Amino acid sequence: MSRADKPVVVYGASGYTGRLICEYLREYNIAFVAAGRSAGKVKAAMETHVPGIETADYEIVEVAHDVEALTSLFAGASVVCNTVGPFATYGPEVVEACLAAGAHYIDTTGEQDWVITCDEKYGADFAAAGLLVAPGIAQMYTTGEIAAELCLEKPGLDTLDIAVFWGGSPTIASTLTILVNAALAGAYYLEQNRYLPWDPDAGLYQLAIPGQHELALALPWGGTSHPVWYRTDPRVANVKVLGGVFNKPLMMGVPQIVAAAVQATKDMPPDEQYAALTATAAQMMNQMPPRENPRLNKSLDSVHASGPLGRAHCVIYGNSNYKQTGLLQAYAAYSLLQRPPRRAGFASGCQAFGHRELLGVLSSFGLVREPVVTVEG
Ligand SMILES: NC(=O)c1ccc[n+]([C@@H]2O[C@H](COP(=O)([O-])OP(=O)(O)OC[C@H]3O[C@@H](n4cnc5c(N)ncnc54)[C@H](OP(=O)(O)O)[C@@H]3O)[C@@H](O)[C@H]2O)c1
Repeated sequence: MSRADKPVVVYGASGYTGRLICEYLREYNIAFVAAGRSAGKVKAAMETHVPGIETADYEIVEVAHDVEALTSLFAGASVVCNTVGPFATYGPEVVEACLAAGAHYIDTTGEQDWVITCDEKYGADFAAAGLLVAPGIAQMYTTGEIAAELCLEKPGLDTLDIAVFWGGSPTIASTLTILVNAALAGAYYLEQNRYLPWDPDAGLYQLAIPGQHELALALPWGGTSHPVWYRTDPRVANVKVLGGVFNKPLMMGVPQIVAAAVQATKDMPPDEQYAALTATAAQMMNQMPPRENPRLNKSLDSVHASGPLGRAHCVIYGNSNYKQTGLLQAYAAYSLLQRPPRRAGFASGCQAFGHRELLGVLSSFGLVREPVVTVEG
């Protein structure tokens, strides 16, 4: 089955993020396959949730979640945008199918363990094939990476202290992903280019973040992708990231919810544990959040970069986190259809496409404002 006339496949197109990717692919005039485990759900999502879909060139395909079926679907495509998470659970089949079919792989993960797997397990094979494997081209954490890169334009800074905040409700898969990631994976920061574990029992951190007087509550949020992206960057030795949602009561509940879920499931066999975590996540969130509203759904990415004799600070205020993700995915696909990535194999969004380019894309669609950059020394 060749789909060379539809060079991009969106896998998980029925989801909140998948359909936003489709919306922006239409705006970039890219023909695409909207794929998922249920053709009916994908069709309903396209027709009711993707503005302007009647003028998009797309095809709906139902596909089983196994390497053979996915390889057959991806044959002839150039880029696969994967939104089926948790990625540590569902990602391997999709990555392996991309490699077999010769397609670039990008996804929307925020799971540090999955980003490490893509780096250490799949990076070399993708590099040998001249293909990109770029997990985590998404608001969390590409927007923060853009802020870090703006700081690093000043040479001599080697330490990144990053805060990532957003407002709004997580989607069904985001809620499950947060819980599964917290229960089943460690969280690491980078010290002198080595991964060191966050203390899982440290609880909430109080953070002074730009733009408000009240202290914000934060967590390591699974460690985030930045320590992985910067581990082999010769400019950077240390990376610590804290973040969460602006909603303080929600943040205060997160450690208890996670601890209770971990305690209740810790002696179960893996399949049973995953099913129990899925059930807990479904109790927390079992419906699609509404389309984002820029007055409510805000994002804040703040980076303090320091070195022996210099400092820089960058703040990016933005809105509509999931739209940022949809747009970044669509632009990445658009770029890959025209020229190779700046780096083949494992790469971050900025490493593959350039931070100034990605910032320009987010700004031109009204999703982030001009970064506030302060450089000292
Ligand atoms: N880093 C970031 O900033 C960021 C931003 C957005 C999303 N994300 C991540 O991206 C993932 C998707 O988020 P979302 O907002 O789109 O969630 P969502 O609205 O719940 O959509 C999930 C999608 O995955 C599909 N799916 C779920 N389980 C599946 C399975 N076993 N086999 C095949 N397909 C399956 C769903 O299909 P059905 O419709 O058939 O159920 C749906 O298409 C989550 O892991 C989330 O954490 C991260």
